Amino acid sequence: MHALWRSVLPADSIETEVKLQPLTPRAAVLRMDPYHPPSGGRRNKLRLDFNENTIGAPPHVLDFIRRYLTASDLSMYPEYDHALEDLSEHFGVNPDELTLANGTDEAIQLLINTYVENDEEVLILRPSYAMYRFYAQLAGASVSHLDYRPGTLAFPLEELLERINPDTRAVLISNPNNPTGTGIGVSGIERILARATCAAVLVDEAYYEFSGVTVLPLINSYSNLFVSRTFSKIYGIAALRCGCLFSQAENMAHVRKAQSPYSVNSLAAMSARIAVQDARFVEDYVMEVLAAKELLYVGLERLKISYIPSQANFVLFQAGDRAIEIRDALRARGVLVRDRSYELAGCVRVTVGTRDQIQRFLDELEQLW
Ligand SMILES: Cc1ncc(COP(=O)(O)O)c(C=O)c1O
Repeated sequence: MHALWRSVLPADSIETEVKLQPLTPRAAVLRMDPYHPPSGGRRNKLRLDFNENTIGAPPHVLDFIRRYLTASDLSMYPEYDHALEDLSEHFGVNPDELTLANGTDEAIQLLINTYVENDEEVLILRPSYAMYRFYAQLAGASVSHLDYRPGTLAFPLEELLERINPDTRAVLISNPNNPTGTGIGVSGIERILARATCAAVLVDEAYYEFSGVTVLPLINSYSNLFVSRTFSKIYGIAALRCGCLFSQAENMAHVRKAQSPYSVNSLAAMSARIAVQDARFVEDYVMEVLAAKELLYVGLERLKISYIPSQANFVLFQAGDRAIEIRDALRARGVLVRDRSYELAGCVRVTVGTRDQIQRFLDELEQLW
């Protein structure tokens, strides 16, 4: 068969000196800033750098995968019906108000691809989660920034309300915000929704379980509201890439049109479905992190290090001129934290894990301080 196919093309018909022109990427890609999170060499270290769950995937999810995953499951393209059914029930929405996504990252991209034309305005707070700017720039949107309040890094509500205008097509908010840890209450978000009448407003609730603040029930009242949740943080399955985007059914129908039909892999959809079944795992981890955060605050105060009180499972602290040096010295001792001094002078972000992990971090930090 192969020989037959090959015989159709005589060897001398193959052009040997084709002159290829260098390819020109889209202008939006040329303009983009590259984004390379420091995600290599993290195995076997104390990973307090990506705000993940620091105790690993829930045992019931691992157990499920080991016991029930079949050869047939892996050979088939994904089916989402059961996951959509179970997850919508868990989150208290209808199945057509939820889109399963390949992490929040895909949810952000879907929202922008669905609602923002080239050169239209996307409003982003600064500093915030890097992928907002990434996908807005990739789409060729015009990105405008608004800074968190200097000093306190509080949410700049009045300033944001002033900046939203009829040309704003999307407003992307992390609540609580990464990396500041600061947040905004439900009534503040309602004011934003009432003002941003021509925009899709994303409230990214990646750290909701730690703050307890959610606007998910408001999707019925505001047709411009989109809420995202992730399985990468408290649910401990970042490697699988799974998140949810919520909005009114009509919006979700448009968003789903813009999505590849199999972008969430079967293992991720299956694991998300199992992950939400054990509320106890989530509650216990939240309690542990909240206790560890208190320990961290006390430890930082003892060392006279200033920090921003956080509603999430990470805390920004002030390392002054030594931010990068401290990050590197901690890494050499097996503890990973994230330098943020490139966007907030002197700041380092540490993920709050268990009390034992935070005690180890404090012990190492004390020796370097
Ligand atoms: C605010 C925020 N949203 C989303 C994510 C990533 O979510 P996912 O892993 O679901 O793409 C992060 C991760 O750091 C984050 O900080």
